[in-house]
Amino acid sequence: MNRSAERPGLWAIVVAAGSGARFGSEIAKQFLPLGERRVVDHSVALMRSLCGDRVVLVVAPERIDDHGTDAMRVVVGGSTRSESVRAGLAAVASDAAFVLVHDAARPLVPVTVVGRLLEALDAGADAAVPGLALTDTVKRVDRAGLVLETPDRASLMAVQTPQAFRADILRRVHAADSEATDDAALVEAAGGRVMVVAGDPLARKVTTDEDLVWLRAQLVAGAPQREEERP
Ligand code: CTP
Ligand code: MG
Repeated sequence: MNRSAERPGLWAIVVAAGSGARFGSEIAKQFLPLGERRVVDHSVALMRSLCGDRVVLVVAPERIDDHGTDAMRVVVGGSTRSESVRAGLAAVASDAAFVLVHDAARPLVPVTVVGRLLEALDAGADAAVPGLALTDTVKRVDRAGLVLETPDRASLMAVQTPQAFRADILRRVHAADSEATDDAALVEAAGGRVMVVAGDPLARKVTTDEDLVWLRAQLVAGAPQREEERP
């Protein structure tokens, strides 16, 4: 992609304030090693390569003085992902034009994915998210496991981060203190135009140990890291 993605109005929020309950390690998953750095360091490095010093890292209170990253702005997150995004958004300059919101737990996102997101914003979308087609059939079930319906798989996508937003719209949808597992859902609910662009298997999130094992194998197999991509 065009490296002038270091466009002045582009900011990033990296959310790293979760406890990683499903992963279950003593150290939160985003602070575990992946190659020579930690998971969070890879995520911050991608955003720094695109946004320079306009990157806000959001961490849990006990990490605020001990995050060990090269993020220039670090703030304390909240008890939900949406609260953490709002904490990050409060540290984004008022003249920001676009904001990328990225899970610290997705360390190996190829820069080409971000290029596609920014193109979608340039083409007029309010928000853009990376998505992958599903390979398994999906069923909607109730809490007892009874199947309610089988949605058409062709119309379903698994979405990843970073997600890209017009800054004014992201601020507006978060002003109501709403909760969602991703920010695009808030934009959709507000009637905004959200586009899905092609995601990438390397944008996989660390949720369980299996994911970290897979991501480590990708590094060994030569998945690009940020420094290597710099000209
Ligand atoms: N996150 C955050 N603040 C929270 C919850 C999540 O900043 N209160 C971040 C996580 O650190 C992660 C991203 O949001 O980078 C995606 O969340 P998820 O994968 O669900 O991480 P956790 O919430 O930490 O994990 P779990 O749901 O298993 O507890
Ligand atoms: Mg979570």
